[in-house]
Amino acid sequence: MTDRARLFPLGDRIRLDHLARDPYPHYRLLQQREPVSWVGETQQWFVTRRADVLEVLYDAETYTVASPQSLLSDTLGEMMLSLDGAEHRRQRAPFAEAYQPRRLRRLHSDGIRDLVGRLIASFAARGEGELMSEFCDPLAIISVTGVLGLPLSDLDQILVWYDDIAAALANFKRDETVRARGQAAVRAFGAEIHAHLQRLAIEPDESALCAIAQHPQHPLEEEAIVANTILTIFGGRETTAAMLGNTIWAFLQHPEPLVELRADGSLLPNALEESLRWEAPVQTATRHVTQPTTLQGVALERGEVLQCILAAANRDSVHFPAAERFDIHRANAADHLSFAIGPHYCLGAPLARLEGQLGLSALLEALPNLRLREDAEAATLAHPYGHEFRGPRALHCCWDPAD
Ligand code: HEM
Repeated sequence: MTDRARLFPLGDRIRLDHLARDPYPHYRLLQQREPVSWVGETQQWFVTRRADVLEVLYDAETYTVASPQSLLSDTLGEMMLSLDGAEHRRQRAPFAEAYQPRRLRRLHSDGIRDLVGRLIASFAARGEGELMSEFCDPLAIISVTGVLGLPLSDLDQILVWYDDIAAALANFKRDETVRARGQAAVRAFGAEIHAHLQRLAIEPDESALCAIAQHPQHPLEEEAIVANTILTIFGGRETTAAMLGNTIWAFLQHPEPLVELRADGSLLPNALEESLRWEAPVQTATRHVTQPTTLQGVALERGEVLQCILAAANRDSVHFPAAERFDIHRANAADHLSFAIGPHYCLGAPLARLEGQLGLSALLEALPNLRLREDAEAATLAHPYGHEFRGPRALHCCWDPAD
């Protein structure tokens, strides 16, 4: 047994497959007894209290996203999520403007509402369906590419590149073939974005990509536009699909709030925040220590890796009384850290919220008596699952079809 295993016995017993199934009892114990704990299985420090997670995420000088081993920058090149300081701010600025909540609502609410309507119309009359693949995933991927302004006819090709890039981002075994395929997909996707930018130079439109590429005060070189655009698509697909799925699941587990929500749609925005708090779609944010420091009295060495456990911070009872309860009226639900905080606060949070509000209100209205299919397999697949990304693997549902 190593010294660290002796000093952090709870962390030493953590297993990723347990966290994937139900992380919360483990996080509660860590919060109480080892708030900064060494987890041998991942060789990382886990930080679970909300106050400590805030301290780390706000202090980009001591805790950076930049890492020489990053699979993200190895695949995409330098982009927002691999940089801190002035260069991060420079690359983020034009993107941040394009994703302002008011701009998104003004330019994209109608398009997202139409998309939601078309998706629901494709299955509503059937009385049953699998809502992750038929609703949550298409809503997320078509919205994120649509807001960027990429033509829908490219979507099938984008999904092929997406899979190759996703494999490279998860290439922990450092397989050279997987790496090369991911980088080739980035080059091909980059060429497509280049062609699109050339069209926009002649025929500008109101898309996010056009606003970013032609920003008068914050011009970005094409390489940075391409890398950050691909990052944006990756940031906006599985995360948002998981948020939609987790929220549907939370509603189906809680019949009383569901009745209230159907009667009063104005409760939906806070219910969505509560769902984000209760089941964080992205459970962790990784940081690298830049200089020797201490956190909660624990000495951290330069180069060590911290996992800020957003999902644990969201259930910290110091800030959220009765934190385990799903309460759509919770006054401070929106204080959750599911979009992180500090310089890397999620760029797409306003888009995720817009999709959530438009998508879920239409779904509840169109599918009366929505319920999970009543069998053990449906229940298992619907239960949110995963340690870093967490959402239902499938939502096999039924409802009363309209006459
Ligand atoms: C519910 C859905 C979403 C969740 C839970 C989520 C979560 C997060 C989190 C936790 C971070 C911070 C990562 C870190 O600090 O290490 C982040 C950053 C980011 N997200 Fe999201 N995200 C969501 C939706 C989206 C959408 C729809 C987009 C695209 C429009 C997007 C694009 C990004 C980008 C580009 C960053 C990097 C920002 C930066 O480094 O400055 N996300 N997201």
